[in-house]
This record gives sequence, structure tokens and C-alpha cells, in this order.
Amino acid sequence: MNRLFFAVLVGCSVSAPALAQKFDGLAQTPPMGWNSWNTFNVHIDEKLIKEMATAIEASGMHAAGYEYIVLDDAWLSKERDADGNLQGDPKRFPSGMKALGDYLHEKGFKFGIYNCAGTKTCAGYPGGYQHEEADAKMYASWGVDYLKYDWCNTEHMDAKERYKAMRDALHAAGRPIVFSMCEWGTSKPWTWAADVGHLWRTTGDIAPIWDGTPQKQWENPVMKLLHQNIGLETYAGPGHWNDPDMLEVGNKGLTETESRSHFSLWCMLAAPLMAGNDVRKMTPEIRAIMTDQDVIAIDQDPLGKQGSCVSAEKGREIWVKELSDGAQAVCILNTTEEPMAVKLDWKTVEPIAGKKYAIRDLWTKKDAGTPDADFEATIDSHGVALLRLSPVTN
Ligand code: GLA
Repeated sequence: MNRLFFAVLVGCSVSAPALAQKFDGLAQTPPMGWNSWNTFNVHIDEKLIKEMATAIEASGMHAAGYEYIVLDDAWLSKERDADGNLQGDPKRFPSGMKALGDYLHEKGFKFGIYNCAGTKTCAGYPGGYQHEEADAKMYASWGVDYLKYDWCNTEHMDAKERYKAMRDALHAAGRPIVFSMCEWGTSKPWTWAADVGHLWRTTGDIAPIWDGTPQKQWENPVMKLLHQNIGLETYAGPGHWNDPDMLEVGNKGLTETESRSHFSLWCMLAAPLMAGNDVRKMTPEIRAIMTDQDVIAIDQDPLGKQGSCVSAEKGREIWVKELSDGAQAVCILNTTEEPMAVKLDWKTVEPIAGKKYAIRDLWTKKDAGTPDADFEATIDSHGVALLRLSPVTN
């Protein structure tokens, strides 16, 4: 039988079940925004979120691309309402969640919210387990654009099953909502979740520590999270990103140099850029890091490739990220405790060797020659040099 004829016949005689899918076309580049957790933990309210939106606008972060404002854990009332629906805490969010969403939308932001696939969120608020459809409808009715979905209180549950249940509920609710899966890499979501979520956490939680031991057992220093994402490069791309967790840029615990490196490296990873600092109190130096258009362009490059570590020797790591139009980003990281005099022979960097490029140093904003000459710089302890190599045609 002719295949087209068969398809028409089947299509006419059987009503096909709704296709299980996520919303396509979202997060074509890694999502950018601000999330309440890293600085404010469970201490959030309507006034704080509005002040943050104002500060994100005034600082130039909104114009630089930070569009999602995400309320993390603890926005909820301790109990569902009499009909079993989720509700914002009436004391801390007296205007209600829809009004907050409207406020953010009027300012040109997108509205993000948090819940958990388990019976309760990590902070003990009502979770989404077996309430997926009703909750997805509620989020859609509030104008939610982004859902971070965590994995606490999920004893004996199957991650694939629970995240697919929420994906299907979101799709059925009809509002395009970016689905940010947060199961800490436990079930290796990069191997199965490309058609479930738009991004998935690959690791435990970040702490504002470069390379030491965090206080809480589930928290991790920046360097550990960076290295845990090596090997996951092929799983990232437009609409489906590895998430090495939100930014600690500007937070107490990291030096300015470490913040600049953390930001550079997350851009090399094509990571979602979710700021986690108190934007109201941001220093000019941190503002300059977080709004640097040349550096953000590395993260947001439309090709959507995650960079990889091509060499690591004696505390000098070289990361390379392929960009659109034949360009490459190169990040040289000094992981040692001393400043490092770097002399890089481009012939030893495989993706660059033998090609013609003009090199621009993105943090110093200076031209840095061509690959015909060695790249020379002194890089601070825990610092980076971040370079963009643009192809030269003649
Ligand atoms: C987990 C997540 C964090 C944060 C907290 C909230 O630890 O990984 O990012 O959302 O829960 O309780």
C-alpha cells in the first residue's frame, strides 16, 4: 500500500492520542535570568522580587539578556487550598501569584516558579506528586513561563516517569513553559531527557566556593561542578542544555577574579545563566562581568555547542568552544594558587592549529594577534584569559 494513502487512512479512522512532547522552540539558546535561591534561600516575598526586577532593569542586566525572574523554593503556602490547589503564601505574596506574573510581564520579564516532583519540596512545601495536571493548569493560569522542578522527597519514584508526567501536564495545559529539570544528575538525564526538559541539572548544588569544602554535604565548589560537566558535551544543544547549576557570581565567598572565571567558564559550557546575587547591592565590577556582551555572546552563540577541555597540564586548562560562522572561543584557566606566565603555542591546540584567525581578548578588550605567534599573558591565580578567534578569509 502506498505509504501516504495508509497514513491518511489511519489518520481518518483512529483519533490519535495527544502526542507526548515538550514545548518545542523554547530555550534555543541557554536561558538567562535571575533566581532567588543562591542569596535568599527560603526568605523571599513579593517586595523582594519586585525590587530585584527593578534592579535587574536599572543595572542593564535585563537589556543584556537576563529575562526570566524565577522564584525558587518557599513561595508556597504550607498547605494546598480546600480544592487541592497550590497557592502562594498569603503573607509573603499578598497580591497573589497571577498579580506578580502580570507585574513581571508588564516590565518585559518572564515569570519563573519552582516546585518539586516529590511529595514535598526540599524546604517542606507541598510538592507536585500526583497533582501534575492541576498544578500545570494553575501555572499556566498565572502566566508562568519557566518551571524549575526539583527532586526532593521522591523515595521509590522513577525520575523518567515523574518528569514525563509533568512534561505532559505542561503540554496539555497549553502555555509554552520552559521545563527546567533539577534532579541533580542522579539518573543521568542527559541520556534520556532531550525530549522531556529544556535543561537539566547535571550535578548537586553549587556553593560560593572556588575549590574548598562547602559546609553542606550536598553543596559543591565551582571547580568540581565545572569538571563534572566534562564528557557531557554532545548532549547539549538548542532546546536541551546541561545545567551545571546557577551562578554564584558576585556572592560572598568568591573573589572578583573567581567570579569572572566562573562566569567565563559557564559561558564556555553553554550553561544557563541564572544570576543568583543580590542585584540591588552589586558592585560596578560584578555588573561589568555579568553584562559583558562579548562574553555573553559566547554562551548565547546560536550553534549551541558546549565547550570542552582540550588540555589540562600543571594547573593550566585550555577550553575550546566552537561558535557559529567558523569562530572559536578559547578559555585558558589557571587553577594554581600563583599567577601564571602563559605562553601558548597555537600549533598545540588541535581545533585551532593550521587555521587563520584574528584573536580578540574579551576581558582586556584588546586584539591578541593571530595563531602564527604564541599567545602570551600572565593569568592571576584562579583567573582566566578568554579569547574569541574569528576566521580570516584571505
Ligand atoms: C535543591 C536544588 C536547589 C534549590 C533548593 C531549594 O537543593 O538543587 O537549586 O532549588 O533545592 O530547596
